[in-house]
Amino acid sequence: MDIRRCWTNFALSAAASAALLFAAGAAGAQTPDAAPARTLPVWAYPVAPATGRRGPGGPGGPGGRGGRGAFRGARRGPGAPGGNAGNAAADTGPKEHVPGSSAGYSKAYIANLYSVPDWFPNSHPPMPDVVAHGDRANGVAACGYCHLPTGAGRPENESVAGLSKEYILDELNDFRDGSRHSSSPRMGSVSFMIRVAKGLTPDEMQQAAAYFSTLQLPDNWIQVKEAATVPVTRPEGAMMVAVPNGGTEPIGDRVIEVSVDQARTELRDTTSGFIAYVPPGSLARGQRLVTTGRDASGQPVTIACTICHGQDLHGIGNVPHIAGRSPSQMARQIIDFQTGARSGGWAELMKAPVKNLTDTQIVDVVAYLASLKP
Ligand code: HEC
Ligand code: HEC
Repeated sequence: MDIRRCWTNFALSAAASAALLFAAGAAGAQTPDAAPARTLPVWAYPVAPATGRRGPGGPGGPGGRGGRGAFRGARRGPGAPGGNAGNAAADTGPKEHVPGSSAGYSKAYIANLYSVPDWFPNSHPPMPDVVAHGDRANGVAACGYCHLPTGAGRPENESVAGLSKEYILDELNDFRDGSRHSSSPRMGSVSFMIRVAKGLTPDEMQQAAAYFSTLQLPDNWIQVKEAATVPVTRPEGAMMVAVPNGGTEPIGDRVIEVSVDQARTELRDTTSGFIAYVPPGSLARGQRLVTTGRDASGQPVTIACTICHGQDLHGIGNVPHIAGRSPSQMARQIIDFQTGARSGGWAELMKAPVKNLTDTQIVDVVAYLASLKP
């Protein structure tokens, strides 16, 4: 707490403090205290709408019978005695391949939560055991399974490359103590992350945080394109997936983030990323919001994100890097700050900036942020 206060005093200029006061005051005048129930956009929370009964994609997460809402292909390994490496599925049977890699892994190995297909071992430092194999005895799946060995992550989780060690540790602690969860209990991926964080030993937390904090977000992982029409998509495995031969439809007020190559995404190929379609005009509107806090008509709606996240939006210390990251991930976080699903600790600093953002403005902001060089 003390550190946080010091940092705030140190880093926030007088202008920023004034802006914070403004946002708090303006917001207080315009919105009732109790936040109305919020509709969660499907493109940011890609789970089938609630049906009233306990349906697929519930908190079960990977390994459970999650159907469409859980992670496609995720399997608990058969388990084996010995070190964590013994948790991986046996890598027998026909091997899958990806372009440019001499490695080959079986489907069962790729789908196992305690093994990580490492297609390009020279593209990252050696993974610590918890990143490569997890800690099965404590319910900890391998970090690299979901976040990938490069830390680039996927839309249903988050990128963890480019984050500082202190921020990573802080988030793990927030998942552990309950101050960070998802606005949608149906986001099985986030429930699973909470389970993982709770099972970690202090040593494992240090090792994983040290590893990911040395990695840079890859440049070409997410391509952002303004487009009026997009492929027809549906939520599957907590991601948006293009419907095969589904045609196109108007983008509307959405970001549609899909695999460049769905088959390579399924193989967890770290060189085949995502394409994010964003509405025409959103990049310019987003730039204005992010850098000045004002909308197209010049009205102040938020605090310039650059004040805390830095001119290059690469963050510092406990303020995370937000340039060039997945737009659907970032929209989910912004909404989680709005609903209070992310609260406490450093999350308090995000309350005022997100308070008055509309869904359209969230689209604009994340479109612009995702388009920046990471
Ligand atoms: C089963 C998949 C899965 C595994 C395994 C997993 N994570 Fe996560 N992780 C997630 C999801 C999902 C999120 C949150 C996405 C969201 O909030 O929308 C997340 C979020 C995070 C964040 C927050 C990032 C940010 O920008 O705030 C950190 C840090 C993190 N994970 C670290 C780890 C570490 C370290 C491990 C291994 C010990 C690990 N994760 C294992 C799925 C996973
Ligand atoms: C007053 C300082 C401040 C301002 C202004 C601010 N942020 Fe943040 N932001 C933070 C802090 C601190 C965190 C980390 C919160 C936590 O630990 O949960 C954060 C976290 C985030 C995250 C979550 C990233 C992740 O890794 O999960 C996103 C996305 C984000 N901010 C976007 C924005 C946007 C967009 C704006 C401008 C509209 C903005 N922020 C303005 C301080 C700020």
